[in-house]
Amino acid sequence: SESGCLSIVVLGASGDLAKKKTFPALFHLFQQGFLQAGEVHIFGYARSNLSDDGLRERIRGYLKGASDEHLSQFLQLIKYVSGSYDSGEGFELLNNTISEYETSKNNESGSYRRLFYLALPPSVYPSVCKMIRSYCMNPSSHTGWTRVIVEKPFGKDLDSSEKLSAELGKLFEEDQLYRIDHYLGKELVQNLLVLRFANRLFLPLWNRDNIANVQIVFKEDFGTEGRGGYFDQYGIIRDIIQNHLLQVFCLVAMEKPVSLKPEHIRDEKVKVLQSVEPIKHEEVVIGQYDGYKDDPTVPDESNTPTYASVVLRVHNERWEGVPFILKAGKALNSRKAEIRVQFKDAPGDIFRCKKQGRNEFVIRLQPSEAMYMKLTVKNPGLEMATEQSELDLSYGMRYQDVKIPEAYERLILDTYAPLDPSAKFVCNAFSYLQVSAGKKSSFLSHGLFTSANVCFDRIRGDQQHFVRRDELRAAWEIFTPLLHDIDAGKLKSVSYEPGTRGPQEADEMSRRMGYVQTHGYIWVPPTLA
Ligand code: BG6
Repeated sequence: SESGCLSIVVLGASGDLAKKKTFPALFHLFQQGFLQAGEVHIFGYARSNLSDDGLRERIRGYLKGASDEHLSQFLQLIKYVSGSYDSGEGFELLNNTISEYETSKNNESGSYRRLFYLALPPSVYPSVCKMIRSYCMNPSSHTGWTRVIVEKPFGKDLDSSEKLSAELGKLFEEDQLYRIDHYLGKELVQNLLVLRFANRLFLPLWNRDNIANVQIVFKEDFGTEGRGGYFDQYGIIRDIIQNHLLQVFCLVAMEKPVSLKPEHIRDEKVKVLQSVEPIKHEEVVIGQYDGYKDDPTVPDESNTPTYASVVLRVHNERWEGVPFILKAGKALNSRKAEIRVQFKDAPGDIFRCKKQGRNEFVIRLQPSEAMYMKLTVKNPGLEMATEQSELDLSYGMRYQDVKIPEAYERLILDTYAPLDPSAKFVCNAFSYLQVSAGKKSSFLSHGLFTSANVCFDRIRGDQQHFVRRDELRAAWEIFTPLLHDIDAGKLKSVSYEPGTRGPQEADEMSRRMGYVQTHGYIWVPPTLA
């Protein structure tokens, strides 16, 4: 059942992730009516000795853009319980506190929904999950549910990840485990399936006959600031490429799913991951920015990459011969994430006087969400000359009234939003869809629930935007041999200047892969006058 009391428990409540991401996401959901006082309670759990107010004060500063009244209403929903992550005592107390709230509610359905968000280092996942399993499960065996949200790093390689999966798998069923990859909550990532499979234009073009290469790029213009110690154990491939970029890759490269059912979509993602060929050393460039090792928590001899460009090749009928270049780096010249699909040259070119730039379809995930297609057009004017231009769908211009939701907000909502048509909740969810579609429609007052539910069902689909166990395994299978070779020093990180494009070797490799850069053309995100 998807109705009844909802208890959200944030474990690691006093930590960084909880303050910066989890509580702000919950607050946004509260502001939009997705968490209603009277139906939900939020519990923070951590080791620190704090009062309820103590925790509220800690997070208050991270909750922006609200009236004082709204803010205090939200904060009043939060209770704090202190305890360790491996002792029964603390979790017994947590369970009693949750039960107290549950029984104090007028809960006609008698069903309890308990959502545990582990804002904790994965080393404690097994013990915390064991505690939840032993002390804090939904007390009813036939209604309601218990769900657990976890986030990377899921191990460091195939074996350690499988070990963690097995440990958690003994305690919870796969449909109770929500593995977050926050890139799956980004607007333009969620748009990929619609774009590819709802547009006739793309269907016949999306293959090796027309596409020369694909790049999936993540750039940050700051270094590992303050996270050097953590980062050095993982490196950019484990931090960004094996998860965030690989998820994007799946959605770009997978075949059309049988339906929009989460399992059908995830089946296709697994298939395309299993079609990836072993990575070749000569198709990898790793780098480390100068100054990375100045961080006292980073060992002097560290070979950990802060930059990597890795070519994936998909062995199937659609993609044979098309390189997918996955590129990520810290301390570069800009901050952005985008997908670049570069088409082949137009054959039999009659405008020979000047080499034409290639069509390139760019999906800008962030910042300034946009999709644009680079085209060759006639230079406007009397002269008959050509130039590169673009068809541009910039979200900031096209959807001026829409506030694009934060990734975490959307994903957390997916973990508890009901699909039950009779639930009051669907109302909220549907109004949300309408608002996010830019039309504050009057559907609600007209009670057009049937169509609303169909639409809701299809768009939201519970675990669609979470990583399934076999998907995680397939992702590690791709990168583990390379990671082991890097850890063993068989590949060396080349150094690069902070604030640049990264190692030149990577640009050279992209050229070797057939990527053609258009010189003298730059897309500028349009701004409102
Ligand atoms: C996290 C990484 O998963 O993603 C960070 O651990 C990185 O290193 C962050 O900065 C980037 O997320 P976003 O949403 O800002 O692109």
